[in-house]
Amino acid sequence: MTSIPTPVGTSDPRGPVFITPEAYTDMEQWHATVAELRHQAPLLRVEADGWSPFWAVTRYAGVLEVSRRNDVFWNTERSAPGPDVQYDMLESFGVDLPRTLVHLHGEIHDKYRQVASDWFRPAAVKGLQPAIDDIADEFADRLVGLDGRCDFAADIAVPFTLRVIMSIFGVPQSDERLMLELTQGLFGAADPEYLGGFDDPIKLITSSIEKFSAYFDELTADRRAHPTGDLATVIANGQVDGQPLGDVERLWYYIIVATAGHDTTSFALSGGLEQLLHHPDQLRALQDDPSLLRNAAEEMIRWTSPVRSFFRWAQQDHELDGVLIRKGDVVLTSYPSANRDEDVFVDSMQFDIRRPDADKLLSFGRGMHYCLGAQVARRELRTLLGKVLARVATIELDGEPQWSAAHFVSGVKHLPVRYTLR
Ligand code: HEM
Repeated sequence: MTSIPTPVGTSDPRGPVFITPEAYTDMEQWHATVAELRHQAPLLRVEADGWSPFWAVTRYAGVLEVSRRNDVFWNTERSAPGPDVQYDMLESFGVDLPRTLVHLHGEIHDKYRQVASDWFRPAAVKGLQPAIDDIADEFADRLVGLDGRCDFAADIAVPFTLRVIMSIFGVPQSDERLMLELTQGLFGAADPEYLGGFDDPIKLITSSIEKFSAYFDELTADRRAHPTGDLATVIANGQVDGQPLGDVERLWYYIIVATAGHDTTSFALSGGLEQLLHHPDQLRALQDDPSLLRNAAEEMIRWTSPVRSFFRWAQQDHELDGVLIRKGDVVLTSYPSANRDEDVFVDSMQFDIRRPDADKLLSFGRGMHYCLGAQVARRELRTLLGKVLARVATIELDGEPQWSAAHFVSGVKHLPVRYTLR
């Protein structure tokens, strides 16, 4: 069995906190450790077994600079932080390394982004609101059938966000289970709960990619023959420099939109609700005044920061936070850390739906790779939360929340709640 090794730091013992899946299951401890680093070593050299060395960037200003200075810091095919073995194994199995928007750089990235960017413009996303409303109504109504108790993450947030992204794609409801399995296979492979019948995370990842490939090939053929105007049609018929997208690029285009838009948003919802349950006064305020929903959604996304980090590659020597980064060095942008930077956010460790600086959040990144689906995610959060809170009279925790053990995208995966309906 090939296992993804648990990283052991050979420099600062705190370094592995950024890449150890289990470290993200105790976010209180994680934030305590990383807050120390922001003060003592805002750029920390991390040398962990199985990983190429990198610099962890923990302050807001540093993450912002790396994100904006696309001339210096480039995305590459290893942008999603992972142990060397993960990429080496994929290569040795002959699996093409990812070529999604987050793995491309420069002009070619811009051209690929343009294929779908119209779809995600604010005016177009506004047009999705009736569909998001309908889906949110359906899931909020589920509370009635669930008899006063449910796992908000697994019963509501995960299937809701999946349904929204699939409806944007135009994928039928009957295929959602498959999409869920494949997403978890790609992003949650380090978490034993998602291993299923596999004894090996690498096999799970390669199997997920193969199944995604088979599924999307069929979808492409269908949308080329019968264009419908949904996002799948846009990708299936997308062109760069007057040529259709290559097979690999098209596959990864589907995968990035399907995967980036799903777990991320559901973790923001579940982790955000968890905080509201810890702050019943804020929960009641939201119930009484839905105009607070907009800022509350920002705060939920700031607080949860479901995308934990990305890697960028320095193309030239560059001084960052007082440290000379050398050409060829790798930096890791720690979004949860930047979002708690006390130099930027007042009482940064407090969850506060009225926080005046919530819109400074870095959870969606910045610069040329700024999250394409940020407006969709915000609408999903506001809409579902508004409808759930309008239906319940009371809602409270009904057991310990559980966190997923994954270093790239993670958050609250089980949120037991008990509630009464209005
Ligand atoms: C709360 C939910 C979400 C979070 C926290 C999130 C976070 C991120 C982050 C951090 C990036 C990389 C930014 C950078 O490198 O500067 C990104 C990129 C991206 N996201 Fe999201 N995302 C979310 C929801 C979504 C949704 C709903 C979709 C699609 C419907 C989506 C699609 C994408 C795509 C396609 C990219 C690649 C953009 C590029 O590289 O040009 N995301 N997201």
